[in-house]
This record gives sequence, structure tokens and C-alpha cells, in this order.
Amino acid sequence: MKIRLDQLTMKFDETTAVNNLSTTINDGELVSLLGPSGCGKSTTLMLLSGLYKPTSGQIYFGNQDVTKWDAEKRGIGMVFQNYALYPHLSVLKNIMFPLKMQKVPKKEAMERAKEMADLVQIGHLLDRKPGQLSGGQQQRVAIARALVKKPNVLLLDEPLSNLDARLRLEMREEIRRIQQEVGITAVFVTHDQEEALSISDRVMLMKDGIIQQDSMPQWMYKHPENEFVASFLGNPPINLLTIVKKANGYQIGNSDQLLNVPAFTLPKEDNLDVIHIGVRPEDFFVTTNGNQTFTGKIIHIETIGRDTLIRMEIGDTTIRALVDPQHDLQVGDTCRLGVSDTNIHYFNVESGQRLHPVERSMENARETNMEEHA
Ligand SMILES: Nc1ncnc2c1ncn2[C@@H]1O[C@H](COP(=O)(O)OP(=O)(O)O)[C@@H](O)[C@H]1O
Ligand SMILES: [Mg+2]
Repeated sequence: MKIRLDQLTMKFDETTAVNNLSTTINDGELVSLLGPSGCGKSTTLMLLSGLYKPTSGQIYFGNQDVTKWDAEKRGIGMVFQNYALYPHLSVLKNIMFPLKMQKVPKKEAMERAKEMADLVQIGHLLDRKPGQLSGGQQQRVAIARALVKKPNVLLLDEPLSNLDARLRLEMREEIRRIQQEVGITAVFVTHDQEEALSISDRVMLMKDGIIQQDSMPQWMYKHPENEFVASFLGNPPINLLTIVKKANGYQIGNSDQLLNVPAFTLPKEDNLDVIHIGVRPEDFFVTTNGNQTFTGKIIHIETIGRDTLIRMEIGDTTIRALVDPQHDLQVGDTCRLGVSDTNIHYFNVESGQRLHPVERSMENARETNMEEHA
């Protein structure tokens, strides 16, 4: 089921939980709503479900305006963090419950429930009570129960938050598998950036009720549209540095090092004397030459899995870099780090918005053009 949200706003007294949200979710897509606690993720989900009615704006399922429809009529399956299973009912009866409410004949209900139990791989646990299951198994029951009605849309609100790290990883792969096998449109709420990036076709990152960026996961990671997006994604976090315009280039912090900064496609009136740049720790590499380099003193080293994480001081600025452990680096060493031009992100200091460099080819064309006119 294709879903369209058109200028959706939800106010609670003074709080605007969801602010003028517009997007389209394609049929069969899994979209994550990502953002810090309180940014409006659950409220958006409640609006989709029909349990809340928006202050303004429209919701379309296919071509139907369902804004005023109640939850039952919309055909929604929901999964929550706390499973919300009936403790006194067996697994089978828990899954059958929504069908019983719909007065589906018992034999058919049982068949459909068993089919769903097999899909989520708990077919061998049908007689157990929820209390006799692990957290991951309980969440599988909750997913089967949400899907047994053959809903149009599956809504999941932080479904993995109660599970330990290993189970979380396993269950997120399972949710993706199940969603793709059923081919159902799904909206997955999480505050965990890694979870969102790994499970989704598309990520909507929210802050204060407003979508900051709505794109494919890898695109969002590689092309953050503002500093908030850049900082929210990635672990260890992106390095944000201030650079200041000088006669021969841009100075890094208060150091004596210069960077070559490209021309930007932006209105002339923007102040470019001071810019923020972002570089992800994994985009640095140890080098002895190159034009975009950062030289500093190593103040801390630790090993993270395959990589070595170093902290380095450049004047008054500290950066983190993940480098190849084959370099024999020691605390106190002077180190030179390179980064390719495409891995430097530029942001407007005041608005935090991404600055878009003029593409090389365009820049060359413009220079050639200017020479011709000279
Ligand atoms: N029923 C409610 N009444 C009043 N304020 C609410 C209600 N539900 C949510 N809010 C407020 O709306 C904002 C967004 O909440 P929520 O959607 O639950 O955020 P998230 O799920 O991203 O943590 C928060 O400031 C929260 O306090
Ligand atoms: Mg929430």
C-alpha cells in the first residue's frame, strides 16, 4: 500500500510534536523514522495508525484520503517495544486473537495463525505461554500477531529496544526478511542510527518534529544535508572543525595549516569567511604527502575491532581518525592524515546547512568562459 503524508501537523497544547511533515512511502518499502527521543517519531506512527487524528494535514492510503478513518478501518498491524502479549494465552491463541475479534471461523483462524507462526519461526512454540519465551521469541509472536490480519501497513515502534545487543542484530535481520517475504509496506521507528541505516530502504531523520533529511541510507550517510544529520549518523561521530579564510586558503582552527576549499554554488551574500567542515573518522588515512592534509600530535590511541582509533591535536582542534593498525603509531608521535576532496563536507556556520561545491567540470567551464571574455 502506497502512503502519502501531506503537510501533517500534530500539536499537543504548546508542543508541536509533528511539524508540517510531507513524504511518500512506496508500496512494499520499509522506511525508518529516526531521531532522538522526543522528536515526534511515535506521534507520527500514531497518526499513521489512526489512533491520533492530526491537527492539520492529510494522510492517503493509495488514492484514499484516510485522515478521518479510525484505526480498524485502515488495516494496520502494530508492534511495540514491550511486546504487549496476553500473558495468560498460549502463543497460538495470542496470534489468533485479532482474527477472533474479526469473527473469523476458528478453523481458518488456526490455520492462518500457524502459517504466520511458521513465517516468524516459532511454529514449535505454539503451546507455550509468553512468560516461557525469550525476548526475541516474544517479539516474533508480536510480529505474527500483527501480520495475521493481513494488514495494509506494518508499524513498528522501537521493537528491538528491549533486546540485548546480539539479539537486536538477529531480530533486525529477521524483521527485514519477514517484511520482504510478506512484501508489506512498513514504517520502523528507532533512535538507533545503525539500526535505521541497516534495515531500511529509506530513512527519515527527524528533529523537533521536522524532517531533517529523507533519503536512502547510504546517501544520507555520505551526503548529510546539515550538521545535525552529519553528527547524528556515524560512530565514532563525524569530526566537525572550524576553518577560517586567509589569503592563501582556509586555516584549520588556530593552527598554521591551510586547506584548499572549492568554490560553492550559493548566493554571493553568504558569508564564507568562516566555514564548518565535517570529516568522518574512517575517511582519514595516514599519509606522507597530498594537498588536503591535517598534521598533528597523537594524544590517544585505542583499538576498536579491526581499526585503530587515534585522537590527534591540531592547534586548538582535536580530531578522531580510524586508521589501519599496520601503521606503528604511538602517543606523542606527529602524524599526517589525508582525506580525499569528496569526503570533506562543508557547512554554513550559521544555518548548519550543507554547502554544495561547484563541480570541477562546471568550475573549469566557468574559468574557460571567463578567460574567453577577458
Ligand atoms: N499525548 C501527548 N500529550 C502531550 N504531549 C505529547 C503527547 N505525546 C507526545 N507528546 C510530546 O510530543 C513530542 C514528541 O513525542 P514522541 O512522538 O513520543 O517522540 P519520540 O517517539 O520521537 O520519542 C514530545 O515533546 C512529547 O513530550
Ligand atoms: Mg517514541
